[in-house]
Amino acid sequence: MRSSIQGLIPYDPGMTIEQLEQKVGKKIIKLSANESLWGPSPIVEEALQEGLTQLRLYPDGAAQALKKTLGKLWALPVESFCLGNGADEVIQMLAIAFLDPGEEVVVPSPTFSSYTSSVTIVGGKVTFVPQKELIFKLEEIAAYIHPGVKMVFLCNPNNPTGTFFSHTNLELFLQKVPPKTLVVLTEWAKNN
Ligand SMILES: Cc1ncc(COP(=O)(O)O)c(C=O)c1O
Repeated sequence: MRSSIQGLIPYDPGMTIEQLEQKVGKKIIKLSANESLWGPSPIVEEALQEGLTQLRLYPDGAAQALKKTLGKLWALPVESFCLGNGADEVIQMLAIAFLDPGEEVVVPSPTFSSYTSSVTIVGGKVTFVPQKELIFKLEEIAAYIHPGVKMVFLCNPNNPTGTFFSHTNLELFLQKVPPKTLVVLTEWAKNN
């Protein structure tokens, strides 16, 4: 096994709803796994049903149709989009694509654990910025960034604290980041 992986602590997703219900002997509503009280959208259900009829074929691996739709929605060229099986996979792809072993990455703490594991897997070196009072202060993070920092990860609103920063503050932060440092932002964005 690669040495960069040996010290990695596996992600612990916690108990399933069934295991929890068995443990406490009651019906449980678990709120840490993207639960929706409303279930999936009927449009999604319909698309999945339709997809089932196509299972004998490889899917469109380059997701051309989806990229085209996204391009129209965001008024951006299709080349602007890189898709993955969830944000987690995209975070891993970014680490693989941009980091050489030993390169420094700035990560606030606490935040989404995948940033650190993805960087560690490829042998990158994480510098944590402790978030005092659990508030995400971009100016404190900016103080850790220098031209040798290859990447910085930001999460808005932050997981797990739920605090958020404004786009005005983000713009100010970006002005302080050296041109070769890649800023990776996981964000719920509204298309307007
Ligand atoms: C900040 C952040 N990024 C990425 C993910 C993973 O997203 P996905 O389920 O799309 O892989 C999560 C999931 O909780 C998250 O909180």
